Amino acid sequence: MNAAPGDLSPVLTPQAVADTTAMATETHILNPRFYTTDFDELDRIDVTPVRAEWDALLAEMQADPNKAHFRKTDDWDRIDWDAMDPALRVEFIDFLVSSCTAEFSGCVLYKEMKRRGSNPDICALFNYMARDEARHAGFINDALREAGVAVNLGFLTKAKKYTYFRPKFIYYATYLSEKIGYARYITIYRHLEATPQHRFHPIFKWFKEWCNDEFRHGEAFALLMKTDPKLTGSVTNKLWIRFFLTAVYSTMWVRDHARPEFHKALGVDIDWYDQEVFRKTSEIARQIFPVEIDIDHPRWKPGLNRMNEGFIRMDEGARQGGLGGRLKKALGMAQAAAAFVSLYTIPVKTNDLPQTVRLEPVY
Ligand SMILES: [Fe+2]
Ligand SMILES: [Fe+2]
Repeated sequence: MNAAPGDLSPVLTPQAVADTTAMATETHILNPRFYTTDFDELDRIDVTPVRAEWDALLAEMQADPNKAHFRKTDDWDRIDWDAMDPALRVEFIDFLVSSCTAEFSGCVLYKEMKRRGSNPDICALFNYMARDEARHAGFINDALREAGVAVNLGFLTKAKKYTYFRPKFIYYATYLSEKIGYARYITIYRHLEATPQHRFHPIFKWFKEWCNDEFRHGEAFALLMKTDPKLTGSVTNKLWIRFFLTAVYSTMWVRDHARPEFHKALGVDIDWYDQEVFRKTSEIARQIFPVEIDIDHPRWKPGLNRMNEGFIRMDEGARQGGLGGRLKKALGMAQAAAAFVSLYTIPVKTNDLPQTVRLEPVY
């Protein structure tokens, strides 16, 4: 979306919905994607090897501890969107749209699995997860509506391009995004608990219970991976896990650094925040991932910064257009690719996996 800051009027016009939906529909390497997979293969999973842990998790999901959570209460302070600094408003809306799209993308994938499956264990799990993600996306969309914008979720389901991932890649990518989601929400929540003067919107007050849903979703994918030791044990799959860790972490870094005003308003140093989220995620991921990125390695942060510069150059080139723009874009792409290789080849730390998988959210 090319809207200037002043374009976001606090009235929900059809144009505003169309613009915001277009923003969410855009397929950019950094935007949240929609996924599809081999649902039959997923349906064939036998959870017998993790039965006890599985049943306990599913019982928790069935009990639905967050059933009444995603409703506005007296804690939901009214926000004067007109009075918000225009640059912050643009970045915050971008944050909400991208979060809503990510939540909804989970909902679509999980619902489709539930619809196509016949395995009662798998169908029950994906039904609960789709329920949660629909609530999350709906709640964010409600907040967007108050700003005079909203994402047309029905349209998004049809218009967004779907990326096919083999089931094992879905496990790696989705496990990580659920656990990162947990780490992001809880880190912001704890930060604002300590510095409430930075809480410029009420939605952050909802993050604590919210992130427990994401934590449980991550647990489910950890258990699914545990059913087949090859998924985390073979040499090739370890390389894939390393690839997903590098890709997901570095994408998050680039995306967050594109929102300086948003983080300034939260009183958060982006480098600190991202490293903190990586640290929590890596610690949790020891439950199932045999390798871990060394985020304190001297090449880590410089590599992330070079990748960010590459993306900025690519964007500038795309906006500039013409031969000069294309050249700039190609240079940016080469720089980002070289940075990725440098990050991917940082020696990883290895973990011996525990016998039992389940963890509790402790942050
Ligand atoms: Fe969610
Ligand atoms: Fe989730």
